[in-house]
Amino acid sequence: MKSQALTNMTESAKPAALLALKEISLSYGKRKILDAIDLDIESGSFTVIAGESGSGKSTLLYILGGFLRPDRGSFLFSGRRVYGRFGEFGLGRFRKKFIGFLFQDFRLLPFLTVEQNIRFPALFSGKKLAKEQLQNQMHNLGIAHRAKAYPNTISGGEAQRTALARALLMNPPLLLLDEPTGNLDSATEAAIVNVLVDLKKQGLTLVCVSHSNYIMQHADRVLRLVDGKLTEAAAKPVKAASRTKKKS
Ligand SMILES: Nc1ncnc2c1ncn2[C@@H]1O[C@H](COP(=O)(O)OP(=O)(O)O)[C@@H](O)[C@H]1O
Ligand SMILES: [Mg+2]
Repeated sequence: MKSQALTNMTESAKPAALLALKEISLSYGKRKILDAIDLDIESGSFTVIAGESGSGKSTLLYILGGFLRPDRGSFLFSGRRVYGRFGEFGLGRFRKKFIGFLFQDFRLLPFLTVEQNIRFPALFSGKKLAKEQLQNQMHNLGIAHRAKAYPNTISGGEAQRTALARALLMNPPLLLLDEPTGNLDSATEAAIVNVLVDLKKQGLTLVCVSHSNYIMQHADRVLRLVDGKLTEAAAKPVKAASRTKKKS
């Protein structure tokens, strides 16, 4: 039965995009940061967005996450308008229900432990959080042993994984990541990428801002933001055999 369903899926027309941006523009003052961007992102795909510093990558990610209303254009999520004048979702509800966001600077609260930081957004969600689910999440991400530690006593990689656990706790279908491995060593980067690849296998849709060739190698698609326009990168960087082995 499963294979039948799969066959039907591959034979049917292209599935509707989970995210559909049409002519999205945004300026800060007179500076046009995003210039009539069109972008479709399919459910279950892993997209990387690259571009020079200051090119507007974070700005675009904030728009996708329901944090920033563009000046123009439409953004449909599952066919529903996110920022319309009569938005079908409240933006707060949209973020809570559909979005996991990993901020570039982690944004952990210094006076809460790792575990409390992860729980924090769940406090406002109205959903009850199973203790077991929290434990599993911390265990999967390799931070269970740091549960009672405060952010100023953990490593960059642990802080990153804490922020990721927090972003994932409410099971969002869309995970947005802003330079998730920017300051991490390559072993920690590989661990984070493993987690991302697993999440994709579980059906999550991932959009990740990154300059890392290693992350790009694991993506389905690499886009580049230049002068306010998105272009499909010509080719993904060639996949290295293994991160741990030296190239011969
Ligand atoms: N709130 C803001 N007000 C004015 N300018 C901003 C604001 N946020 C970002 N910018 C500017 O817009 C440009 C794009 O920013 P950003 O999206 O953060 O770029 P990136 O993530 O690609 O480095 C940068 O030049 C930045 O300084
Ligand atoms: Mg940025």
